[in-house]
Amino acid sequence: MNNLVESFVCQNISCQVFRSDLNHPVIQGNKWYKLKYAIQKALDDKVSTLLTFGGAHSNHLLATAFAAKEAGLHVVGVVRGDELADRPDLWSRTLIQSKAHGMALVFVSRSDYRLKERSEPVQIQLQQHPNHMLINEGGTGPLAVKGVVDMMHDMAAQLTNPPTHLFCPVGTGGTLAGVVEGVAQLGWACQVCGVGVLKGLHGVKGDVLQWLTPAAGETEWSVLDQYHHGGYAKSTPALRQFAVDFQQTHGIPLDKIYNAKSFYAMNDWIKQGRISNHDRPMIIHTGGLQGGTFGATDEPSH
Ligand SMILES: Cc1ncc(COP(=O)(O)O)c(C=O)c1O
Repeated sequence: MNNLVESFVCQNISCQVFRSDLNHPVIQGNKWYKLKYAIQKALDDKVSTLLTFGGAHSNHLLATAFAAKEAGLHVVGVVRGDELADRPDLWSRTLIQSKAHGMALVFVSRSDYRLKERSEPVQIQLQQHPNHMLINEGGTGPLAVKGVVDMMHDMAAQLTNPPTHLFCPVGTGGTLAGVVEGVAQLGWACQVCGVGVLKGLHGVKGDVLQWLTPAAGETEWSVLDQYHHGGYAKSTPALRQFAVDFQQTHGIPLDKIYNAKSFYAMNDWIKQGRISNHDRPMIIHTGGLQGGTFGATDEPSH
């Protein structure tokens, strides 16, 4: 594997980033690690169809569409929002590309989406594809956590000294769980800071806990819930300004939804003096760049 660890200086503190965004053009960043065991299991079990879930801008949908194509599997993507069914002119780039990679898109109402495989339209799909495997929203589940633990070992192999602080963005929590488990396996004395990108991520801590083994009990981790900037896919002028400046200064692109927020959080911790020059802060760039970056001329997203 190429060396994906890069260094940069933030407010006179030297930081490192694991550029997992550089690992694959489409199944990028954490997606590659989160999907690899699920795809392997589908092939081992001789499944013919994958069925998964996502919103119109879900990196996971696109990554699964591509991974399934590569593996020769049929894939159904259940998309939140039935208003899009007859309006392909309103489809996001994510949906257009997912379809182009061969994903069958099934648009469902928000209430059906909440019910996932218990909803009628998804039940119909499952009956039409009896030899299927379900992959959760965001790809998250025990196999995804196992894949992210592998990412931690890949990262550790490229480091001379373990970090003292490790930041990553949090959506469903699967990535954070793998990072915490990996830190425990590696025996690092490292504080893991998951940066929530959604508002009201109350349940996520419990979700993360359910995927951790007792060995991870010693690892210090938290979900920072003050850096969502209004909620999922929302932004503030401060976030946009930070991301534009950061990208210009360091030449590292940050997607709008996940990494702009996690890098902002690490920068804020440094600003607040919670990280000093005796520490070795590190951040995992989880990819998601297909969702777009903030540009100098961007309008607020909401
Ligand atoms: C680029 C990117 N980073 C981070 C995350 C958050 O990962 P998780 O859902 O495992 O918390 C996601 C969503 O899955 C993502 O697409």
